[in-house]
Amino acid sequence: MSEFPESEAKAETECVLECKNLSKSFRQGPERLVVIDHINLCVKPGEHLAILGRSGSGKSTLLHLLGGLTDSDTGQVMVGGQNLTQSNASQRARIRNKKMGFVYQFHHLLPEFNALENVAMPLLLGNAKPKLAYQRAEEMLESVDLLNRAKHRQAELSGGERQRVAIARALVTQPKIVLADEPTGNLDGESAAQIFQLMRDLSERCQTAFVIVTHDEAMAESLHRKLRIVDGRFTDPND
Ligand SMILES: Nc1ncnc2c1ncn2[C@@H]1O[C@H](COP(=O)(O)OP(=O)(O)OP(=O)(O)O)[C@@H](O)[C@H]1O
Ligand SMILES: [Mg+2]
Repeated sequence: MSEFPESEAKAETECVLECKNLSKSFRQGPERLVVIDHINLCVKPGEHLAILGRSGSGKSTLLHLLGGLTDSDTGQVMVGGQNLTQSNASQRARIRNKKMGFVYQFHHLLPEFNALENVAMPLLLGNAKPKLAYQRAEEMLESVDLLNRAKHRQAELSGGERQRVAIARALVTQPKIVLADEPTGNLDGESAAQIFQLMRDLSERCQTAFVIVTHDEAMAESLHRKLRIVDGRFTDPND
């Protein structure tokens, strides 16, 4: 894969996030709705992967499975070589906190905390020393150009600013992988482009892989790889 520097050739062979034979169905009265149908996936370190698919095709469900937020019916999810599926609740929480970052369509900032506190939160939950956590959070806020909004709470931030805070929060632990569900879905075109550029810049600096669910075909085209979900499986994205 020519997108990756040669020095990382070895790392390319490893998956920072991997799933095998992953399935999920939901009960609908007497029937079962199969949403994810035996999916396999390997995301390489630093790779940027777009997941496309129509509304209701299972994109969010897949991200929830990959993040260990939802239990699958079959299959395994491995994160940085650790088996998320076979971990107990506290091990999962630790893997999620140390290795993964999450960005949602509607940011999910904690409304009672300011921007700086929100960004520091994953480090504090991971038992980092508060002084260090706040120092790192300040650096992250600076890199998303929001240090001047550090004391603002969610209600005092614009939609785009909230997303930038959410991205800073997702990256503050320098996770191996960030799962982002339509991170620019509620933003105008220019703000969305800025957010994607930011994610790319930060990812380059920290070698973070991204799995980004999006409806934005042009954005998907600009990433390393894209996959489309149809009937619970990945299809040729150009179909
Ligand atoms: N907890 C649940 N119980 C029953 N059905 C569910 C549940 N969660 C999701 N579904 C169904 O699974 C399908 C996939 O949902 P999902 O949220 O993954 O879609 P999506 O691709 O993210 O859609 P969108 O682009 O609209 O966000 C939908 O048909 C939805 O109705
Ligand atoms: Mg969704």
